[in-house]
Amino acid sequence: MNMLHNIEQLERVESQITQKGLTVWFTGLSGAGKTTICQAVYNKLIEQSLKVEHLDGDLVRQTLTKGLGFSRVDREENIRRIGFVAHLLTRNDVIVLVSAISPYRSARQEVRQQIGAFVEVFVNAPLSVCEQRDVKGLYQRARNGEIQRFTGIDDPYESPLNPEVTCSTAEETIEQSVTKVIQAITIANFPAPSADNLD
Ligand code: ADX
Repeated sequence: MNMLHNIEQLERVESQITQKGLTVWFTGLSGAGKTTICQAVYNKLIEQSLKVEHLDGDLVRQTLTKGLGFSRVDREENIRRIGFVAHLLTRNDVIVLVSAISPYRSARQEVRQQIGAFVEVFVNAPLSVCEQRDVKGLYQRARNGEIQRFTGIDDPYESPLNPEVTCSTAEETIEQSVTKVIQAITIANFPAPSADNLD
């Protein structure tokens, strides 16, 4: 996929996005930048008057999945419930942005199968970088043994093998990451040629 190099190109691509249901699923370590990129993509889509929803792990865990912890079973349940809502919205032509660590490949694969129109974005930053950022102070607490089963410290994270997009947030700007995601949405939602136009 070619990178877009300037704002005009980005604006042109944004304006080509159609209102077709799609789930864009951001996975990655805590502190990798999932929420930040998602919010920026959300704003760009809203500017284009598109219907868009953002389901963020931290927020969803206060409502839809309140009470779930961080065991494998609970994380899978968290992902399943988010996937269920994302599916409902997607089939009603909403562009859904999900940001959740979603550490297990099999759980991500399950929601991909269920939803169909699905783009996986791997928000990739080395653990050392996420730990240095430590925006919420949770890595420090995990290292001190105050939090158990913290992803990347004493709990697994399974990187995607074939994500549609990878945002390497330690090496690229937020704007570059956003551009890649917008480009992927444009490609995914590109209208199929109508039968009338086929020779
Ligand atoms: S997931 O693994 O089930 O996908 P989710 O994205 O919903 O996780 O929630 C992760 C957020 O919960 C983190 O950003 C962090 O703020 C908080 N959190 C609290 N405890 C943990 C933990 N043990 N592992 C990971 N994140 C945790």
